[in-house]
Amino acid sequence: MKFKALQTIENNGQYDNHIVERDLVALQAGEVWVKVDYSSLNYKDALSASGNKGVTRVFPHTPGIDAAGTIFASASEEWKEGEDVLITGFDLGMNTDGGFAEYVKVPSAWLLKRPEGLTARESMIYGTAGFTAALSVQALVKHGITPPHGTIAVSGASGGVGAIAVAILAKLGYTVAAISTKESARDFLLSLGASEVIARAELEDQSGKPILKPRFAAAVDTVGGLVLSTLLRSTKYGGAVTACGMVNGGDIPITVFPFILKGITLFGIDSVELPLEKRPQVWNALSAEWKPDNLDMLASEISLDELPASIERILKGQMKGRAIVRL
Ligand SMILES: NC(=O)c1ccc[n+]([C@@H]2O[C@H](COP(=O)([O-])OP(=O)(O)OC[C@H]3O[C@@H](n4cnc5c(N)ncnc54)[C@H](OP(=O)(O)O)[C@@H]3O)[C@@H](O)[C@H]2O)c1
Repeated sequence: MKFKALQTIENNGQYDNHIVERDLVALQAGEVWVKVDYSSLNYKDALSASGNKGVTRVFPHTPGIDAAGTIFASASEEWKEGEDVLITGFDLGMNTDGGFAEYVKVPSAWLLKRPEGLTARESMIYGTAGFTAALSVQALVKHGITPPHGTIAVSGASGGVGAIAVAILAKLGYTVAAISTKESARDFLLSLGASEVIARAELEDQSGKPILKPRFAAAVDTVGGLVLSTLLRSTKYGGAVTACGMVNGGDIPITVFPFILKGITLFGIDSVELPLEKRPQVWNALSAEWKPDNLDMLASEISLDELPASIERILKGQMKGRAIVRL
């Protein structure tokens, strides 16, 4: 049986994305076939689709770290045909053919039952970005940060993780400062629930001061580098900052002082290898009390054919919200 997929093909060191027809028997991993209704575009997909060997070693390859759909066939006792499922992370779309295709085949241990309060489309508006935003918010909540503590900063706020973090935090009653490079995203971020929008340049402190004036109760950082350093140095006593990304750089120029003089905690967030048993609690919150009323306004829906152009845009940091892929 044939199906359509995006495939990244290597040609003399160049990587091109094409829509191709594949055969179902060519899918190798796992024991469960899923008919994909929706996938979504994450920064990591764009890295895979542009030949980043840190993400994908062997080409041709189909990226797509997220997929939501219905079990089409199963050789696993656990999963039955017709069940609604979602997959985020593990090896999907990295070195296993991913969700930018009408079908995926995966190990049963990667599958989650889709919560009743979420459609397949909504689950992919979240996708890995939303799941990561929720893990970041969960870390701050568990740390004991509550709305009266003060403003929560969110960097890379117009991107996937950032925009969803802004929306969830606002839904939970926090005051949110959205940090963005895009003046054009101001209205979008305010309508998601941010109270103020701060230009990223303001959060790239080059003074070298080990500690800055306390400004935020906590922060969700999605970009890393100097922005993460500035957030850690600007957080009030006992606060916390989560780190999940590195588009602004992999190094953090920082001293030990914010940690030992201000009791600041830095939480590392990983959505990829998080054990399956820890996931339903987060997805259930995303399907109910954490679900932003304006979730749909985060999404622009695209087809497989429109994906290559969106991949270029996310690589240039031009995304606003989430691109979801309709299969
Ligand atoms: N640890 C995990 O499990 C995990 C999971 C998902 C994503 N991530 C990582 O989290 C990051 C964000 O992912 P995403 O899906 O939200 O990506 P995205 O949609 O592309 O958003 C990233 C945002 O960061 C800002 N930005 C872009 N280039 C930048 C630069 N050079 N310096 C500073 N800011 C820049 C832009 O927002 P503004 O213009 O508003 O500033 C951009 O929209 C990526 O690094 C991704 O790999 C990690």
